[in-house]
Amino acid sequence: MRSSLITIPVLVVYFPVRSEARWAAHTGARETALVKLTLESLDVGFGDEVIVPGLTWQATASVVCDVNAVPVMVDVDPTTLCIDPSKVEAAITPRTRAIIPVHLYHRMADLDRLTEIARKHSLHLVEDAAHAHGSQWDGRGAGSHGVFGSFSFQSSKTMNCAEGGALVTSSEDLYLRVVSQRSCGREQKNGVKVHSGNYRLTSLQAALLRGQLAAMVENAPVFDRNGQALDRAVDAAPGVTSLRRNPRITRQVGYSFCFRYEPLEYDGIAGDVFRRALSAELCWPFESTYAPLNHSELYYPHTKKRHALSAEYLMAITPSRWELPAAEALWKDHAVTSPWPIMGMAPTRARLLTDAIAAGSRNCGHTNSRNSGVFEGGPEWGNRGRRRRGEGVQSDAHGKLLASEASLK
Ligand SMILES: Cc1ncc(COP(=O)(O)O)c(C=O)c1O
Repeated sequence: MRSSLITIPVLVVYFPVRSEARWAAHTGARETALVKLTLESLDVGFGDEVIVPGLTWQATASVVCDVNAVPVMVDVDPTTLCIDPSKVEAAITPRTRAIIPVHLYHRMADLDRLTEIARKHSLHLVEDAAHAHGSQWDGRGAGSHGVFGSFSFQSSKTMNCAEGGALVTSSEDLYLRVVSQRSCGREQKNGVKVHSGNYRLTSLQAALLRGQLAAMVENAPVFDRNGQALDRAVDAAPGVTSLRRNPRITRQVGYSFCFRYEPLEYDGIAGDVFRRALSAELCWPFESTYAPLNHSELYYPHTKKRHALSAEYLMAITPSRWELPAAEALWKDHAVTSPWPIMGMAPTRARLLTDAIAAGSRNCGHTNSRNSGVFEGGPEWGNRGRRRRGEGVQSDAHGKLLASEASLK
């Protein structure tokens, strides 16, 4: 990775920051806009297709429509929640120009297989690393494995300046094109200029990020260690499993902690009831995933006149044309996510999660008896925990989960 590029060196490989000022200057508008710039700088547009995961924040696909290309949705691996490489090849057509894998929540997409597929078919790999600041694959930072990597600094992210983002690239040519686009199409070295608008970040926001960048260098290994402790805590509990961690992931810093719930192990109790009950039990949010893009309330590209390019194009961008059974099952029944501050919990406290899940399991008759009725009509398991605050698991868990005992900065 070259230091003269649009890059956040410390986020890419955790080399010492060579020029924070340069990094600050090269961050840009929010990530959604930056991915749009990457596609434009790669000359992706009308008539092209871009492969995206069917389970992601809507922006990953909507930016593809914004450059008048077609987002082709591929289902995810139910054990990682990231795009399933075994399904990517089948989605490639002569029109495909790029793949945008997302390192979603608590895992990284399989970069080895995706890089291989991209090379084989001469496609651009653009990593959406909005959830992966500081994660590493085979010792190299998230965002540095494709032609571009993009990071979000929107307010919910592990590094944030309210709204903003950054791109990393190892191509000087693309760097110049994006820098031109970032700043109203101003001409760069070698006469490079690309028609554009204003996608600059303010200096104030960049200043906010400087301290967080240094903190992230120290915090990333802590996040990883604590996330692994939570994985082990989940695996020690009944009816739930941690997400599969590819051995090539050398550091995982997620946007959310995430695991799988198996309703059949709980007499068919719905994922939603489980999530609400666990939230009540631990006084901490446990939620589902984003809605898959074919169900998303935020993905409706037909409402923009500029997308009405032709009847064929409108058909191609209709979200309901995609079948995403793995993503839908995760969203409805299996996935349990919790915001990243849970990774501030000391590993010694991770046991609280095991105990809370086990308590619920006992209450719903996990030991082969029929459903005791505890869950019927709502998250009684969690309500029970609230009513009896001060007793057992509930009292131990209450409040302590929120305490950041691993001294995150
Ligand atoms: C996976 C993913 N990609 C892209 C984005 C867009 O980032 P931004 O809000 O900075 O435009 C988000 C934001 O939440 C995201 O979660």
